[in-house]
Amino acid sequence: MADVPPARVPLGSSSPLASPLYPSAVYTLPDLEALDRIMNAEEPGFIYARDAHPNARELAARLSALEGAEWSIVTSSGMAALSALLLATTQPRSRILASNRLYGRTSQLLAQELSRYGVVTEFLDVNDLEAVDRALDKPARLLLVETVSNPLLRVADISNLAKLAHEREALLVVDNTFATPILTRPLELGADLVMESVTKLIAGHSDVTLGLVAGRGELLPELMQVSSIWGFSASPFDCWLAERGLQTLEIRVRQASHNAQILAKWLQGRRGISRVLYPGLRDHPDHRLAGKMMKDGYGNMLCFDLEGGREAVNRFLRQAPGIPFSPSLGHTTTTCSHPATTSHRYVSPAEKQRQGITEGLIRLSVGVEAVELVQAELAKGLA
Ligand SMILES: Cc1ncc(COP(=O)(O)O)c(C=O)c1O
Repeated sequence: MADVPPARVPLGSSSPLASPLYPSAVYTLPDLEALDRIMNAEEPGFIYARDAHPNARELAARLSALEGAEWSIVTSSGMAALSALLLATTQPRSRILASNRLYGRTSQLLAQELSRYGVVTEFLDVNDLEAVDRALDKPARLLLVETVSNPLLRVADISNLAKLAHEREALLVVDNTFATPILTRPLELGADLVMESVTKLIAGHSDVTLGLVAGRGELLPELMQVSSIWGFSASPFDCWLAERGLQTLEIRVRQASHNAQILAKWLQGRRGISRVLYPGLRDHPDHRLAGKMMKDGYGNMLCFDLEGGREAVNRFLRQAPGIPFSPSLGHTTTTCSHPATTSHRYVSPAEKQRQGITEGLIRLSVGVEAVELVQAELAKGLA
């Protein structure tokens, strides 16, 4: 058995243009002194991939720059990012205020999982700033909102929510998945922590599952510890793919937003559609606010309601296979989903009704392809 690692191929003065991939789960070290220096952060290096590895570190550095953050940590999914963040900031009897329009699994994480550890969450309408102000009268550890809510695309007033939270020493945490840091940088608007499902537009090709927490201040060591101990860390290959996707993020988000704006107008008033929701439309309840929170575009997500409910949705899906029914978002090409049976499947019927998540609601994740192709396919679906 050879006990010496194989010689690396020398690169001389050359270096690879594309980032190298380091799939190694563990690193070799010359002696205990070297291990101590790495553990004590006296020199760079890696030991065990669940703690840290070069591909996660590189992706985190690029995402920090994009978010305007002091630091970032990449996790194995968006839910892992939220879990790490919540575990690192709360303890039994901590009180959380959360938007009452969140991704279904996020609501479940708060109401069903964290509650098992004695963390109490109150859900409220975060577009009602007076209600938020009143709720903050009682001490809260953090306020959690989505920049653009899933699925009905309400926009959060991050600047004012940050002011309200900070007056009472609460942290403002923003899930920025639908906006992406290209359109909205929550940290620059006053948020303390931002979370992204990197799975979606950031990675952009539906071939990785990853998450991100970015922020400033003291929390990074705590987050890294939680991530390592609970096992939330991301795989090197996923990080490598996400970094590749990141290279085209800006151009993808701008083109997809442009397409979404055209499609939202085109869908309005068409036969069989009872409402179209898109923050870029003048009749959207948060249109003006979206103009302040998002720059140069209103995002790639739009929703429309089909008269005829579930049956009409099934007809649409069968007649428009070119817009795949694919319950995620942020792919290069346009896909659609049905929130009532997917992202919000486990939300109670009464809660769905309150939010306006109807059986006829289709959520479109608009891609970067020629918009005419999407229009033609939508027309087939609506025929
Ligand atoms: C707004 C939002 N936040 C968080 C998540 C969770 O991300 P992931 O699927 O990467 O765990 C999702 C997933 O759909 C989402 O839509």
